[in-house]
This record gives sequence, C-alpha cells and structure tokens, in this order.
Amino acid sequence: MIYQNISNMKYRILLASLVLLTACAEKSQNDLIEQKVDDMLSQMTLEEKVGQLHQISAWGDAASMHDEVAAGRIGSILNFVDPVEINKLQRVAVEESRLGIPLLIARDVIHGYNTILPIPLGQAASFDPELVEQGARMAAVEASADGIRWTFAPMIDISRDARWGRIAESCGEDPYLASVMGVAMVRGFQGDSLNDPTAIAACAKHYAGYGAAEGGRDYNAANIPERQLRNVYLPPFEAVAKAGAQTFMSSFNEIDGVPSTANPFLLNDVLRGEWGFDGFVVTDWNSAGELMAHGVCVDKPDLVEKSINSGVDMDMMTYGFIEELPQLVEEGKVKQSVLDEAVRRVLRVKYRLGLFDNPYVDESLSDKVSLTPENLALARKAAVESVILLKNEGDVLPLGANVKSVAVVGPMAHMKYDQLGTWAFDGVSDRTVTPLEAIREIPGITVNYEPAFDSTRDKSTAGIPTAISAARRSDVVIAIVGEEAILSGEAHSLADISLKGAQNELIRQLSATGKPLVLIVMAGRPLTIGEQIEQSDAVFYSFHPGTMGGAAIADLLWGVEAPSGRTPVTFPKMVGQIPIYYNHTNTGRPFQGNETLLDDIPLKAGQTSLGCTSFYLDAGVEPLYPFGYGLTYTTFEYGEPRLSANEFSVDDTLTVETNITNTGSREATEVAQLYVRDLVGSISRPVRELKAFKRVNIKPGETVTVEFRLPISELAFYGFDYTRKVEPGEFNLWVCHDSNSGTPVSFTVK
Ligand code: NOJ
Repeated sequence: MIYQNISNMKYRILLASLVLLTACAEKSQNDLIEQKVDDMLSQMTLEEKVGQLHQISAWGDAASMHDEVAAGRIGSILNFVDPVEINKLQRVAVEESRLGIPLLIARDVIHGYNTILPIPLGQAASFDPELVEQGARMAAVEASADGIRWTFAPMIDISRDARWGRIAESCGEDPYLASVMGVAMVRGFQGDSLNDPTAIAACAKHYAGYGAAEGGRDYNAANIPERQLRNVYLPPFEAVAKAGAQTFMSSFNEIDGVPSTANPFLLNDVLRGEWGFDGFVVTDWNSAGELMAHGVCVDKPDLVEKSINSGVDMDMMTYGFIEELPQLVEEGKVKQSVLDEAVRRVLRVKYRLGLFDNPYVDESLSDKVSLTPENLALARKAAVESVILLKNEGDVLPLGANVKSVAVVGPMAHMKYDQLGTWAFDGVSDRTVTPLEAIREIPGITVNYEPAFDSTRDKSTAGIPTAISAARRSDVVIAIVGEEAILSGEAHSLADISLKGAQNELIRQLSATGKPLVLIVMAGRPLTIGEQIEQSDAVFYSFHPGTMGGAAIADLLWGVEAPSGRTPVTFPKMVGQIPIYYNHTNTGRPFQGNETLLDDIPLKAGQTSLGCTSFYLDAGVEPLYPFGYGLTYTTFEYGEPRLSANEFSVDDTLTVETNITNTGSREATEVAQLYVRDLVGSISRPVRELKAFKRVNIKPGETVTVEFRLPISELAFYGFDYTRKVEPGEFNLWVCHDSNSGTPVSFTVK
C-alpha cells in the first residue's frame, strides 16, 4: 500500500514535470517564432509586406505566375493542386524572391480530399467527434501530399434554415454540436503539431452569422441581435479559436447593416480582444470588393482602408490590397503598425507550419496516401454513422435471407458524382461506390435496376412504368431519391425544399404496388418529405454520403451495421415552418398541443384571442423530426437521471447517471443526449439546450450506466446586461434519446 502511494506520487511528479517541460518547450518554440517573424519583418519593404497579404486563385501553371511570385507580390495561392507545379512555384518563392518567403497553398478541403467523406451535415449526424477528427486527419494527409497546407474549413455557421444551400456544409443548428464537431475538425486538419508536413492550417468560417441569411437566400443580410449572436452563433467560433484554429474567414454577409469584412467588433474586439486569437483573418472570395455592392464603401481604396482597419489581414481575390495598400500606408490612412501586425500574423502561421524549413512536398507521396484501403474503410465507417433511420414500420429492415430480389429504383441509386455532395473538387468520382454497385455485390440477390429518371430534376414520368414493373417482380423495393450535388452548397438556395422533378409521383406509384418500400434520401439538406415517408415502410436519410456511401447503405440495409445517425437539424414538415429549431425560446403563449387546426375551425367562428397560442393553423409547430432523432434495429429504454446533488454552486461540476437498457434483440449504438433548461433568467432562455452527448454500444438485454459530468460554468450565457455568467435559479435536466423526449429532473444553482 505504502509502496503504491509512493509510486503513485512518483508518477504524478513525473507527469507534472512532463507537462511543465512541454509547456516550456512550446513557449520557447513560440518565442523563437516571434523572433524570426520580427527579424523577417524588419527586412521587408512596403511592397513585400503588402505581397504577403495578397491571395490569388491560381491562374495557370507555375511558369505563368513566376514573375509575380519572384517579385514577392503574392503571399498565398488557392486552387493550385498539382504537387509538381506547386514545388516549381515554391522554388521561385524560396529561391528567387529577395527574402525567400514561402507561399501558403490553400484549397477548400471540406469533407475529404480524394477520398470523400459524408458532407459536414452528415458527419455531424454521426455525433461522433473522434471519427470526425480521424476523417479530417485523413483529408489533411491526402491534401498535404499534393502540397496543400491550408484548408478553408471547418464551416461552423449555425444553420436553422434548410432553404439555405450551404446548410450542407455546416454542422447543423446546434451551437454545442457545431462546437464539438468544429474542434474535432481543427484537431484533425492541424494534427498534433503544425510543423508536421501533414498538418494543414484550419480556417474557421464564415465569421460570422452567415447561416442566418434572411429567407435562407445565400449572401442575404442577417439580423442578429448581439445577445443572440453571442449565445448562438459565436460559440463554435470561440471554441475553435481556443482549440488553436490558425485562420478565420470573414463572411460575405452583413449583420444589422455591417458587413463582416468591415466589422471591427467581430474581427478585433471579439476575435482578438476577447478570445486572444493570434492567427490571421482572410476575407471570403472578393468579400472586400463586395463592400461597394453592400453600399458601405465608395471605391477600392476606401474598401481596402475599411477592411484592413477593421481587422482583415489577407485579401482573397479582390486585388485591392496589392493595388491600394502601399499608397494608403504612405498617406497614413492605414497605419504602418496595422500593416505590420497583419503581416506578422501571416508570417507567424507560415513559420508555425514549418514552411520556411520544409517548403517542398514529396511529389511521389500522393499515390501512396490517397484512396488507400484504410481511407476507404474510414469513409465507409463515416458514411455508416451518418445515415439516419427515420422510420422502420413492421421491422422491414434489416433485410433478411427471405429477400431474394430487390428493385433498385430512383435517380440517386447510381450517381457516382452527385453522391459526393457539394465541395468535392478533388474527389475521384470513378472510385465512388454507389448503392446500386454495392447491392449488386450481395450474393444471392437478384437486382432489378430501373432509375426511372435522368436526374432528380427530371419531370418526365415516362420512366415510371418500367420502375413499377421492376418493383412488381421484386420482393422489396429500394427507392433512392433526393437531390443532386449541385442543388445544395454555395449560391444554391431553394424556396421549395420538396423532392424535385417527378420523384414524388414515382414514390406514390411504388407505394401503390403494395411491395415493401424502403426509401433512401440522399440530399444536401433536410427535405419536406412527410407524405413520402408516410407512403414508405422504412426510410433512411443520408446527407450526401461520399465515396463509400453506397457500401455503407448496403451494410445498413442488410444489417451488417445497425444505424446510429441522429438528425443534426430539425426537419420541417413544411417550408413555411422555417426557421424551425429545437432550442427556441418559449414565447409568452407557448403551443399546448390541443390547438384547433384549420379544418376543425367552425364556420363563422368569432374572432378570439383567448387561449390562443403560438402555432400555424395548417402545420402546428411540431417538426417532421426533432433535432437528435434517429432509430436503429433495436429499442432502448432510459431510466430516471440520478444527479450527484440537487443544489450546486457555480464552481461545481454536476454528475448525472442514467441507466439505458437495450430492450430489443440486437446490439446497437445509442446516442445519449443531455439537455438543460434554465427556467427563469434575466432574458428568456431556450426550452432545451444540448450540453453533452455520448455514443454507447449496448448488447441486447444489457443495461449500461451512462455518466455525464457537466461543469456548472457551462450553463453561463450572455444575459440582460450583456455579460456572460451563470444565473442562479432552477434548471431542468434531461438525459434522453432526442430533443423532444425524456422526463426532466431538476436542480438548483445557488
Ligand atoms: C467562397 C466560399 O464562400 C468559401 O467558403 C470558400 O472557402 C471560398 N469561396 C474559396 O473557395
């Protein structure tokens, strides 16, 4: 016993020394970098400084950009992906430019590089940050092998509007989920050490409020009051800044009339002042140039002056900094110190990435690290975990040995390119495994394939009869519908988010055959498909699942894997319910559930406001599916949450345990979710807020105890006086299956 205590003590001392040593090493490494940055800065001319702040999109091969790079007039290049050409141009920067400052090569590596993972919304549906981190690491290894050392990800815009095409790129509607996933991506991209050649700098985007575009129309204005901005939209950005994300991107939109690229409150006060961010801010593509269209700048000099003075460091594609900054500095409109600070930030990131010591890429690497069996296996796992089982009536799924033939119909069954989703520039479509291909690999099954349409937008019903006859010849119908990749993503917003073309008619007729109908939806956003779900026996929702999506879907259909995806956003019943999200405030007249809907209002009913609540006469307020929802091939039962105490102080950590029993007959994963509600605050608080979640694998008949530890400090929010603190009072707490289930227990914060 005594011996054990001594060795425990020794272990602790050793550990403490190690932590201290690492901190010291990091500090001296940082000091060294700062010294090098200062040293470099002291040798730079005005033109060379401005060059570091200028980012271009590659306009050709290395030779075509030679002169500008040799003159030190370019700091970073995006959309340049050939390692041979990258090395050539890097050699110009390092060996021919006066100071030898290397270029920073950037690319949108959003959800994989050559091996494509599910779109970020699908990755968020996995509720599996470890897997998301592994995916980002894989993408970084593949991308860096081509010479890319900077990605414009993670995209952590809170998205409460499925009309917005860029919801596909987001981690959904919840600040906590988006924070956890954003941090996982940053860790994966940047790895353990930034100067490892496989590390790529992350870029938190789009800072800020871009997902709140009015009406879900891309680039539109956002109107977000400061408290809501801080409580809902900024937390993921703060989380990734603190996790070490090296760069931020200023968004296209304006908030309350102030475009982000000219917003010193966001860029200087909050990002740097409050969060201590010491990396650099890049504009979105020409977002500095667009300050004129926003109507806040008169000309190029004006927009350059405003954006750099507001805290922007690097200009993507406006050509404004390179053309106007020298003059503006000479005139004193931009202070030398502001310019120097921007250059310092860019150089700091270049030094941290080890680019000065190791500027070139091994040109033979890419073939060895891309699309490897391990990467494909990871993409398959990520796709499996991203798929959400929305319905499984009569336990149609998983398909059993009795199923000898299947009809595979619908336009998304075999679309190698579209299944990759938006922002898959470097994805290799040839390597995509579609559901059709994967199902054809299953032994002993006859596959009757009839796509019925040329695309998801095809309005012609001419192909439907052959699909119906395939259905009639088969034991089960698998209808794979949805949206092509181009229907979501940047600049691809929709006012109507139902299935396009004649897909609904196909589903109606398939349902009428009476054959068991399994609907699989592949899309970039939640679609309004309530009627189609009613017409189907089972439904899988698969946000564009990437390279191995088809294999994953076959695994799930035949029960090789049990589904575990959960909705990362609320699914609306109708587009008119948007914005719809689970963490709304209560209103003064909350919906009760017994309201009279449109068809039940008596004729000549008199006008009354008594008993009136906040709802739609034609759609109620309930969504099609709540946030956090998803079924699997078994059932789970939750016990009552057991709290470590009933009363806590602000410095305490609450512990809560809940038993979860697998009451079905197969092993599966449950995503246990912890929500709280602050019952009375200085401002109205959300009816529920996700604070933690855990994936737990449970065997049939087994009961596991899930434990969460929640620091009370995490209940803090920006209240009436705009300061962030925990407000004492009573709270409800749920440990449950989704944002709409469970029975709360309460506790008090003193
Ligand atoms: C515009 C997009 O908004 C942004 O997300 C992307 O990173 C840049 N273009 C660069 O491609």
